[in-house]
Amino acid sequence: MSHAALSAPEIPTLSPLKIGSPEHKQAFCRMLLDTFDAYKPAIIEWPKLEPDALQRITSLPFWDVAVQTEGYASIRVQRLADTLNDTLLKEAVALNAFEEARHKHVLEHMIKAYGITLKPEPEYKADQDAEWSFLRTGYGECLDSFFAFGLFELAKRSGFFPPALVDTFEPVIREEGRHILFFVNWVAWQSANKSLFDKIIFRGRCMAALLVNAIGRMDIAGDAASGGDNFVAAGGQNFTADFNVREFLELCLSEDARRMAPYDARLLRPRLIPTMIKFALNFIPKK
Ligand SMILES: [Fe+2]
Ligand SMILES: [Fe+2]
Repeated sequence: MSHAALSAPEIPTLSPLKIGSPEHKQAFCRMLLDTFDAYKPAIIEWPKLEPDALQRITSLPFWDVAVQTEGYASIRVQRLADTLNDTLLKEAVALNAFEEARHKHVLEHMIKAYGITLKPEPEYKADQDAEWSFLRTGYGECLDSFFAFGLFELAKRSGFFPPALVDTFEPVIREEGRHILFFVNWVAWQSANKSLFDKIIFRGRCMAALLVNAIGRMDIAGDAASGGDNFVAAGGQNFTADFNVREFLELCLSEDARRMAPYDARLLRPRLIPTMIKFALNFIPKK
């Protein structure tokens, strides 16, 4: 398969994957496990920031949301891991949960280092329903990561984030890319292994999980309009003075493609959000 080898040179021989097959499961689990980065949040040296950079970073409105999102994600993903019998899948999902908890630790260390004050945190609880817990987190990450890819690049290009801070957060952003890649393949694998009736129920639950997340994020966006927290709207305007919605969405799309490119080319890619954004771009004037 020379064309596949070209797009993923680190994998020598690739035969096409049947979605739902044991080989498919093997490939998406191995993708996550083999690309693990063993960094330790406690030994990250937080770069000393110039007073204006420190002021910019500490006054960003989304640190509470970010810490809580990671707190819920680690509990909810671990909830699924606890119920699995398949050794490989369990190992991969548990790694995903570990990485979410580590993201929270990274943020906590940063918050301490830069003197950011947070609201009191809620008590993190997962739903009893393990599949729902994972679906909820997975679709939330698909939405957040797509925009985070663009925001991160924007903050980097505009100089809002000093280069040292960009380097520190790069592994976190990279991990979110691996998580959503893992998630969409897990959804497809899971669905392919269900009877027609169960498949319809499962797909219905997927849509519900996506909807719950979309509505939750619209609430946050509503808050932002009245001066509250928002990851995307507030972030984008903070990061660059001449924030342009169309350019930003195009940046999200190109960053999404770039971040998904290094992994096993046979795996499915998250497509729903990018497709919706491409469609939306038809209605957004070019300046
Ligand atoms: Fe995370
Ligand atoms: Fe994640």
